[in-house]
Amino acid sequence: MKKLLIGTNTKMTKTISETKQFLTELQELTNPINETEISLFVIPSFTTLVEARSCITGKSIALGAQNISWGETGQFTGEISPRMLDEIGIDMVMIGHSERRHVLKEDDFMVNLKVLNSLKHGFITLLCVGETKIQKEYGIADETLRTQILIALKDVDPSFAKQLIIAYEPVWAIGEEGIPATKEYAQEKHLRIKQVLNDRLGKAVGETVPVLYGGSVNSENAEDLISMDGIDGLFVGRSAWDALKFSQLIQKVLPHWKKRNQ
Ligand code: PGA
Repeated sequence: MKKLLIGTNTKMTKTISETKQFLTELQELTNPINETEISLFVIPSFTTLVEARSCITGKSIALGAQNISWGETGQFTGEISPRMLDEIGIDMVMIGHSERRHVLKEDDFMVNLKVLNSLKHGFITLLCVGETKIQKEYGIADETLRTQILIALKDVDPSFAKQLIIAYEPVWAIGEEGIPATKEYAQEKHLRIKQVLNDRLGKAVGETVPVLYGGSVNSENAEDLISMDGIDGLFVGRSAWDALKFSQLIQKVLPHWKKRNQ
């Protein structure tokens, strides 16, 4: 069976000790199902990564970083280089999260350079895309997603596809003010994204890239979302930051995932 791909970005919320506690609890709670049925990842703040690495036993949880520089070393004040992440033993890097794009003004071209750097250094690369409320209202959500993906993947050789994961996170769905996408809307956009990936990477390769849904995923809507063909996993924010609630959410969605993948 294909593993359920599910994870969380803890954004700028947890200190080192809070992250360690979260990871310890999450491992205990998900231990019986971890290795065979789910592929779990956690993306905490930079300051926590060294301790988080030593806190994770074996391959139970993939550890991710919230950003990466497009440079190798040198004059990039405040940025984090692939060498630094490599030294810690990071598994994955998230690029282009909506808050990086909209609050910190990262554009598609920066995202592209970061994607290239992350792939080159062997990290699993979680590329986030999603339209804003205005883009949705103007009827250009599909065009926005296509543009974001095509620019982000410029010069990416299809041979790197096995390192690639896409998270579809509509900006209007994210955070406390967010309204989660309906399962039908999410599915439609996932299928569009898959079409773009097929066009860009070739069908045989494009089809292998998982597309996760994120944006106000919670214990009420997670089962419906994961039941939809085309939704290959979930990227959870607030509803995952309590280890017990996150593990309960995982337990809830797993049977639906298994049913779809029998
Ligand atoms: P949320 O965050 O689940 O709290 O909306 C999702 C995200 O930003 O990835």
